[in-house]
Amino acid sequence: MADQEGGDSEDDAILIPETATLLPSTQHCLHSIYSVVFIRELRSQGLSFQLWPAATTLLTLLDGYHGDPSTSPLGPTLSALDMRKRPLKILELGSGTGLVGIAAAATLGATVTVTDLPHVIPNLLFNVEANVSVLEANGGIVHVAALGWGEAADVEVIGREFDLILASDVVYHDHLYEPLLKTLRLLILGEAEENEEGRVFVMAHLRRWKKESAFFKKARKVFEVEVLHVDPPCHGSRVGVTVFRFTAKKSGRKMLNSTGNTNVTA
Ligand SMILES: C[S@@+](CC[C@H](N)C(=O)[O-])C[C@H]1O[C@@H](n2cnc3c(N)ncnc32)[C@H](O)[C@@H]1O
Repeated sequence: MADQEGGDSEDDAILIPETATLLPSTQHCLHSIYSVVFIRELRSQGLSFQLWPAATTLLTLLDGYHGDPSTSPLGPTLSALDMRKRPLKILELGSGTGLVGIAAAATLGATVTVTDLPHVIPNLLFNVEANVSVLEANGGIVHVAALGWGEAADVEVIGREFDLILASDVVYHDHLYEPLLKTLRLLILGEAEENEEGRVFVMAHLRRWKKESAFFKKARKVFEVEVLHVDPPCHGSRVGVTVFRFTAKKSGRKMLNSTGNTNVTA
């Protein structure tokens, strides 16, 4: 533990992973837990190895929720889940560098499974390992697993027992809309009992193309989709990162068949 603020008590200290000085990494402050998360980006290796703007928005909101749930846009959603009185189980889809999942585990004291395509897993493992001290100090646990969208077998392996599903910047290529929606249907609608507590998907998204409205149009057929938060636009953008909350429509569960496909035409 290193004290960068010059404070004289442990409570004032900023928690820095011991590996931090060895990493070519970006640093992300979690003010509410006096900690810094270190993330290795490998930008030359493609879009899965860099941090996207929506991830930073979710990190900021998670940090703000831990600081003061009553003023956080995530307040109503996370407080309702917290009422379940156990470490929350969270799944992150398309984690990329893993920043959001690591921040969620650390700020919520949650058990988080970060997932992505198989070739992304080594960097995810690296980043989780780099932040073990911050996670341990805050009661967070992060597991890493491969999960390809649209792959029912991957969901079978990982299971569906998650309270919350998170993702940032996962709606971009239109050929991925349907596989992502299939995974969401399996996770959120699949085999839920009538009296089971609802699962929630919280997604941060930066709109880039008009075609993305097709994803939301399809999603609204089976999910209630609400806006929780909108960031002010960054320089050069017309829109800011928007955070959505997806929950099952009552009729959505009935429309799901055993393969995760709905019987509705989109
Ligand atoms: C734009 S990046 C966002 C990464 C990270 N969530 C962030 O905000 O920094 C999209 C992520 O989705 C993942 N992805 C793309 N297609 C996928 C698929 N078919 N199954 C699972 N993950 C996928 C990519 O590997 C990548 O990590």
